[in-house]
Amino acid sequence: MAIKKHYLDELEKRRAAAIVGGGEDKLEARRKKGIFTARDRIAELFTAGSFQEWGMHADHDCSHFGLEDKVFLTDGVVTGIGTMEGRTIAAFSQDFTVCGGSLGRIHAKKICNLMDYALKVGCPVVAFNDSGGARIQEGDDSLSGYGQVFFRNVLVSGVVPQIAVIAGPCAGGAAYSPALMDFIIMVKGSSQMFICGPEVIQAVTGQKCTMDEIGSPLAHASVSGNIHFVAENDADAVRLVKKLLSFLPSNNVMDPPHQFPAQMDLSPDLELEKLVPETAKEPMDVLKVILRIVDQGDFLEVQKDWAKNIVVGFARIQGMVTGIIANQPAVKAGTLDIDSADKAARFIRFCNVFNIPLVTLVDVPGFMPGVAQERGGIIRHGAKMLFAYAAATVPKITIILRKAYGGAYLAMCSSDMGADVVYAWPTAEIAVMGAEGAVKVLFRREITGAKDPKAKEAELVADYREKFCSPYEAAKKAMITDVIRPSETRATIAMALRSTLSKRETRPAKKHGTIPL
Ligand code: HXC
Repeated sequence: MAIKKHYLDELEKRRAAAIVGGGEDKLEARRKKGIFTARDRIAELFTAGSFQEWGMHADHDCSHFGLEDKVFLTDGVVTGIGTMEGRTIAAFSQDFTVCGGSLGRIHAKKICNLMDYALKVGCPVVAFNDSGGARIQEGDDSLSGYGQVFFRNVLVSGVVPQIAVIAGPCAGGAAYSPALMDFIIMVKGSSQMFICGPEVIQAVTGQKCTMDEIGSPLAHASVSGNIHFVAENDADAVRLVKKLLSFLPSNNVMDPPHQFPAQMDLSPDLELEKLVPETAKEPMDVLKVILRIVDQGDFLEVQKDWAKNIVVGFARIQGMVTGIIANQPAVKAGTLDIDSADKAARFIRFCNVFNIPLVTLVDVPGFMPGVAQERGGIIRHGAKMLFAYAAATVPKITIILRKAYGGAYLAMCSSDMGADVVYAWPTAEIAVMGAEGAVKVLFRREITGAKDPKAKEAELVADYREKFCSPYEAAKKAMITDVIRPSETRATIAMALRSTLSKRETRPAKKHGTIPL
């Protein structure tokens, strides 16, 4: 007794046909250009042999005009489940060699089936986008397919992490599926993402532009802020996916993958004290501070080329996964503006929904002054940040390094805005506004009437700074938890994380707040 050979032959024949997608020639042509195929991307992501493909024998909906006699095995997308470093991941990878990776009805159904499963089992979704967009021959069936995918992106949002890799074209409405996900990685050289391309823009508006200006990884990483990471090539994109996932839980009811050491290292780090400039006027590169605080200097900076006046990213501190938000005084003096507020607010909300504690490093002179900022809606954008911090119920640990002025002090997770603990360096200046500005408002007459106005102003500034900005003033009023030496920062954060990880906070039940988007 044994299964008849022809059954197995037929299966193997079908498997072999599906695996070559649009044909060996097309696959080879991509590889020659140094571009991965859809299956190469899947193979790079998963532990060898762990990928279980779904829908390998799918074909397109043949009822459409011009497609009746065609075969599109897999319907242009490889979907399935596999393991990566022991964790279950759902992934789909569009196959450009099959009808340009275009999205038809069955292609969409395969993606939706996968996302429904990811939602049920609570595993992250990784999407490799490489597609000509809606399959034109399938008309509104493909439009409807996109709608169903977008709906799943939103359903899954906040339950499991979603990571999109843009590895080829991603144009028009198709760009909204990655845009609805949590992180977007674009691959240098082979990817573009745009709603309207240069030809359409010129035809409609008369404006001339290049694809590089509107749709390249560089444009999205540094100008539009639409994406989070740029990869050098396909392999690097997968490396970034893995790195990112190493900090994330598989779903919103799990803790992130902390790696508690047997014994915490609470020794002081004297190098940190050397990083603090002698005067408040000299900027301090906060990245250097972050790298000394986090384990092995291993910091995954998110959106590092956009809104650089704020730094956000993932790291571990004594093994505990944290989301770090820090003003960067080396850029725009560390002021908060429209883009940096958007960047921080989104990151804070992501961390909150996936149980990742927040560590905030404050050195902020205020919100950025300017007509463009006011007219651009800095009030609305800054409010997002205030909202995101106040609404976050994960552990919130704030360290005030130097300046913490006015509304920006509140926006950087002060105790009044719900921080669990707030520590300040002795160099911290916590005040309703900077000493120079305050003195100008309060003592204009005294300064102009003085024999030596400059000396008088300097004297008043020093006096104001000591009386009103000192961290000990804030400590007196119990606005901060304690004043610490910079060398104690790493140990202080580690201890605070350890004690706040068990934090549970309940808020009034509601559908959702109305964040000023
Ligand atoms: C059907 C498509 C297709 C599509 C590509 N192909 N895009 N078939 N529907 N959308 C097919 C091509 O006909 C070709 O088939 C094969 O895929 C490879 O395409 P090429 O054009 O040869 O490749 P390349 O020169 O690399 O150009 C890639 C491209 C171009 C820039 C993406 O194919 C392109 O402009 N495609 C159309 C893009 C588009 O207009 N999409 C629809 C947008 S509307 P053969 O058989 O010759 O190999 C939309 C609305 C979505 O997306 C709304 C959702 C909300």
